[in-house]
Amino acid sequence: MSQIGIFFGTDTGTTRLMGKKMAKLLGDDIAAKPLNINRASIDDLLSYPALILGTATYGEGRLPGLETNVRNGSWLEFLPQLEGADFSGKVVALYGLGNQVKYGERYADGMFELYQLFKGMGATIIGDWSTEGYTYQQSKAVVDGRFVGLALDHKTQGLLTEGRMRDWIAQIKPALVAAVEAQAEPA
Ligand SMILES: Cc1cc2nc3c(=O)[nH]c(=O)nc-3n(C[C@H](O)[C@H](O)[C@H](O)COP(=O)(O)O)c2cc1C
Repeated sequence: MSQIGIFFGTDTGTTRLMGKKMAKLLGDDIAAKPLNINRASIDDLLSYPALILGTATYGEGRLPGLETNVRNGSWLEFLPQLEGADFSGKVVALYGLGNQVKYGERYADGMFELYQLFKGMGATIIGDWSTEGYTYQQSKAVVDGRFVGLALDHKTQGLLTEGRMRDWIAQIKPALVAAVEAQAEPA
């Protein structure tokens, strides 16, 4: 499918809302309708040349799912479908929601789980992001001094969310569009 796929894992809807806003920023022509990962199949993900994957962090710095009391299931229930999957040639950008005041020792750790998984399956991860302006103490999602994707804290830094998303989308859009156009070209 020659579009950018957007999939998110959420409990209380913030990660969904951000996915929707990102789709709007990218434009409906190029961005597919964001889909909850608890309703997605591996073939859905693999049908896109470029992906934006979002997650909230729950439990002890974990991905959302039944074990972390996300009633409708989420990324944790999707993980078995990733076994043996090949994402080489796919361009993937990540975003993560968390609360750096209440969970400052493990801020947005869930995003790191996605990073490890998708990098391990061959995806080209784009969209790393500066840690400037954040107040957490520790985050697994920081690799080599930068977040592995866009970290958002809509609870304690909500006023920064829109600007961060706008800047991040502007940063990643060219690479996402290039991946979509490369697939759309006739062989
Ligand atoms: C029980 C619980 C555990 C949480 N654990 C973490 C955590 O470990 N790290 C973090 O950054 N945020 C944590 N959060 C904050 C959520 O990730 C944050 O509120 C997020 O915006 C929720 O997104 P959602 O509305 O898409 O579910 C936790 C929240 C709850 C209620």
